[in-house]
Amino acid sequence: MTLVDIHCHILPGIDDGSKDWQTSIKLAQDAVADGITHAVVTPHTLNGRYLNHKDDVIYLTENFQEMLDDANIPLTIFPGQEVRISGDLPKALDEDDILFLDEDGQYMLLEFPSDDVPAYAKEMIFSIMRRGITPIIVHPERNSRILKEPTILQGLIEQGCLVQITASSYVGSFGKEIEEMSRRFIEAGQCACFASDAHDLPKRQYEYSEALQKLSNEFGSVKAQEFRDNAQAIVNGDNVQLDWRPLKKKKKFWLF
Ligand SMILES: [Fe+2]
Repeated sequence: MTLVDIHCHILPGIDDGSKDWQTSIKLAQDAVADGITHAVVTPHTLNGRYLNHKDDVIYLTENFQEMLDDANIPLTIFPGQEVRISGDLPKALDEDDILFLDEDGQYMLLEFPSDDVPAYAKEMIFSIMRRGITPIIVHPERNSRILKEPTILQGLIEQGCLVQITASSYVGSFGKEIEEMSRRFIEAGQCACFASDAHDLPKRQYEYSEALQKLSNEFGSVKAQEFRDNAQAIVNGDNVQLDWRPLKKKKKFWLF
């Protein structure tokens, strides 16, 4: 069965993901063992630390695919980027230096700083969307500002963004608070799909199938299939829509 991972850091030596080819091969084997058949490889770019140009990512991805094929690892990879929101993004788009998740350039992974949603995000997202691009907000459940003000995400969805939650967040690898935040976003229909966001780091391993199994247990197999279908539709450039609701209020305990 097809399982598409739209976000991982398994290209070697270009960000905080895999450090060398050997590690990349190992991560690809882990991906296959986790049931993944197709992956968009998405090194960071424009995040102040890593700037990975489109052509370089394409070149590395082609090399890596050849290595995977030679090693008989059944994983098909596509070049992508995890794009940090930045004042330099319009220029990078103008210069055709941004990679998307689909060939037609509709879906783009968009990352915020881990502790903030910048004040200019709304305006920037508006201008990105005017170009016909649908931003996919990555792991909002791990953003400390959104954890404090989770309704921020609704505003971004109202603007037309999609949302990807990290599989490990939902299974609890980042702790209870992030696990619960993931569940609340999913319950409110505010998430389109999971992704591994795999790195060669502790707690950043493949837990995609476990997350889907948990999703099936908690929200039903139809929901789990929807997440699988959405990830595939994104890579195919097909339409994906969120049937979302405002977040439920957090349960309060009686005070004594
Ligand atoms: Fe990432």
